[in-house]
Order: sequence, then C-alpha cells, then structure tokens
Amino acid sequence: MQRHLISAADLTRDDAVLILDTAEEMARVADRPIKKLPTLRGRTIVNLFFEDSTRTRISFEAAEKRLSADVINFSAKGSSVSKGESLKDTAQTLEAMGVDAVVIRHGASGAPYRLANSGWIDAAVINAGDGTHQHPTQALLDAFTMRRRLIGRDAGLGQDLSGRRITVVGDVLHSRVARSNVDLLHTLGAEVTLVAPPTLVPVGVETWPCEVSYDLDSTLPKCDAVMMLRVQRERMNAAFFPTEREYSRRYGLDGDRMARLPEHAIVMHPGPMVRGMEITAEVADSDRCTAVEQVANGVSIRMAVLYLLLGGNEPAVTHSRTEEK
Ligand code: NCD
Repeated sequence: MQRHLISAADLTRDDAVLILDTAEEMARVADRPIKKLPTLRGRTIVNLFFEDSTRTRISFEAAEKRLSADVINFSAKGSSVSKGESLKDTAQTLEAMGVDAVVIRHGASGAPYRLANSGWIDAAVINAGDGTHQHPTQALLDAFTMRRRLIGRDAGLGQDLSGRRITVVGDVLHSRVARSNVDLLHTLGAEVTLVAPPTLVPVGVETWPCEVSYDLDSTLPKCDAVMMLRVQRERMNAAFFPTEREYSRRYGLDGDRMARLPEHAIVMHPGPMVRGMEITAEVADSDRCTAVEQVANGVSIRMAVLYLLLGGNEPAVTHSRTEEK
C-alpha cells in the first residue's frame, strides 16, 4: 500500500482486498459492548473539512475514536480560511502541531494530492472527497457492502467482485463517487455500466473502464447492484435537463423500476438522498436499499484504512477463536 490514499485508482487488487478483509475484522469490534481498540493511541489525526459533509465526517471521526487516536476537527467555516488563509499555511500549522494523518475534503479537485506531494507536511493524507475527482473510501465502503450482500460476510473474505454487474445512475459528470467506483470496481473485476442523460456524461468517458448507456430500463434486469447518484446542484452552472420531473421520469428509481431488477440485486446510494428526485421514498425505505448499511460499513472501512496507513504490521484485531463464538 502507498503511504497516502488519494485515489481509488492507486489501489491494486490485493491492496483493495486487504482493506475489505481488514474492514471485516474491524466490523467485529462494532459488535462488542466496548467498541474500542488501542491501535492508534498517541497518534493525532486531523479532519480537515473545507466542504459540507454529514456521513463522511462523522464516520471518519467515529473510526478514529474507535482506534483510540487523538482527533482534531477542523472545518473551514469559523477558521482562518474564511480570513483568506491558504492551504499551505493551514498545512504548516498542522505540521507544527505534529499530526500523523490528515483526512481532507476540499472543493478543489487535486487539493489532497497537492497536500500529500507538496512537502508542506509529513503526515499521511487521506482523501475524503475532492471536487468532482475522487472519494476513495466511499468506493471502498461501497465495494464492501456489495461483497457482503452479494457473496456473504465470511464467504467474501479474500474475494473480489469478479463478474458482478454494477449500474451507476445519475449525475456522473459531477460525481467523485462515480469516478472512484468505476476505478475500484474495475480493479476488483466487476463490470460497470454508467447510465445518465447525455448532458451528465463526462467528456472522455470512452477512456474509462466501463460501458455507458442512456436507457435505465434496459440495464436494470441485468445488474447485481444499482447505485443511484444525487444530482449535484451545487456544482452546476447551467441547466443540464429540462425539469426535475423529466429527470425523475427517465432516470429516477421508483417501485416499478425496482421490480425490473433481479431478485438478489441491491439498491445503493452514497447519501445524501433527495427523495422524489433520483429515488422515491418507497425505494429508499425498502429492504433492498443499503443506504444505511453503507454508512455503518463506512466506519469499518475507514478504521481499516487508518489502521493500514498508520498502524503497522500486527494483526488488526487480536482475539481468540473462543471469543469469536
Ligand atoms: C457524496 C459526496 O460527498 O461526494 N456523499 C458522500 O460522501 N456520502 C455524494 C453526494 O454529495 O451526493
């Protein structure tokens, strides 16, 4: 594994499977009455959030605390960033405090890469979402959720997602979740189809390792998982479709469309969901929708990533076989 986690494309198949397997170990900690490991005691981790976040921020914080790290939360609002301070000066302030890892979310694609490769800091850098570029821990938690649901918790250990068919639907153009998932799912052997209106398909998509379709109804009967994306209005500076109603009619997932999926197939969403737009409440609240499970899995994945980047070579969790039973 590399020292930083900037892009899902940096992970080899073996790296990715190791993270998923380690996350399974970490998930067992969540089943214990005391959900804590001493692994990162004495290490300091900063959560540097320049963009809004609910799930990702809380999830990283929970993961860090479960590993006993000292946690510093920084959000751009209310900090000197709103007074015009640069990323470099912010980074050097963190370096002066001796942080061991920085979890960064930033509106600018490439900000985590810059932080990791600038020489400004010595800490490990973990990308928690940069602009429209990458969100590698989201792709990992999505792959973890798919492996558990489609293969099984124990049966999945050591396995990738070879031959599984995943459809990603919606605002691909603005989605770091879609980009990260295409990279990671391809590395794990899955076949990905993107479905979006032509205006929300990125230029250059033909170089991505996936198929593209404009017709949701014909792809649904062939997939093992369908991942719905939010329409990212905050990143749009033009009209990409006529009306919301028109978008939902063609690209939204409702009960009738969900019925076209094979029986075993799951419905995924990274959150935040806009009910009535890309997904109806009926689908969001159905047993097939894994949105809440994805959030829980996010904590295990982030524990695994932090452990592997900072923790070292010992087994992630030491427990005797009898304790497991
Ligand atoms: C996504 C993000 O921020 O990229 N959400 C998340 O991390 N769970 C997707 C989105 O904002 O729609």
